[in-house]
Amino acid sequence: MKTNQWSWLAWPLGALPLAGIIYQAVSGQMGPDPAETLVKLLGWWSLVMLLVCLAMRPAAQLMRVPGLVIWRRTFGLWAFAYVCMHFICWGTLLLGWDPAYLGQELTKRPYIIVGSLGWLALWPLALTSTRRSRRRLGQKWVKLHRLVFVALALGLVHQSWVQKSGYGETLIFVSIATILLLYRVLHGRNMVKN
Ligand code: HEM
Repeated sequence: MKTNQWSWLAWPLGALPLAGIIYQAVSGQMGPDPAETLVKLLGWWSLVMLLVCLAMRPAAQLMRVPGLVIWRRTFGLWAFAYVCMHFICWGTLLLGWDPAYLGQELTKRPYIIVGSLGWLALWPLALTSTRRSRRRLGQKWVKLHRLVFVALALGLVHQSWVQKSGYGETLIFVSIATILLLYRVLHGRNMVKN
């Protein structure tokens, strides 16, 4: 299968959850606290997109479809876009951009600091995601893009801290992340190049 010609498909695939969230919002299916639900949904999909992005290399290798590696970049950018929306909705709908309230939130809820550090770690990756940057930075680009694991670790800590309904979901997220990391450690040298 020539996947390069299908590389665009990752864009609509990444947009699907957003379309679902918008549909839920406009059809009034956000529950008793729509603002909180919206922030949570966007946070949840940020983490899922990060994991999907990291799953692309193993998927390309296991399914013998090298072109899938290209989807990593798109899903990585979607992860960044979902975190940005998560942050904007939190700031606008839950905080009202009130500096006094922000100070209170940061001291009362340290998980916000952890999430913000995860978001910060994604910025250099998003800003250097172009082919041109990759060519220009060479090996430095590869090293820089290891920040994705820092963002993932911080995202996982943030999620486990935030959730109020047991650690079941955290366990699933951490298990998937561990499998992806182990795969990378064991097969890193034989990975499909792009
Ligand atoms: C890599 C960055 C981030 C990731 C992966 C992430 C992911 C998540 C996840 C998975 C949740 C839980 C959703 C659920 O309960 O189902 C969540 C909740 C939350 N996140 Fe983030 N987040 C990130 C960054 C941020 C930032 C930068 C902020 C704000 C400055 C933030 C604020 C919040 C808040 C306030 C909640 C709780 C919503 C509530 O329960 O009321 N997050 N996030």
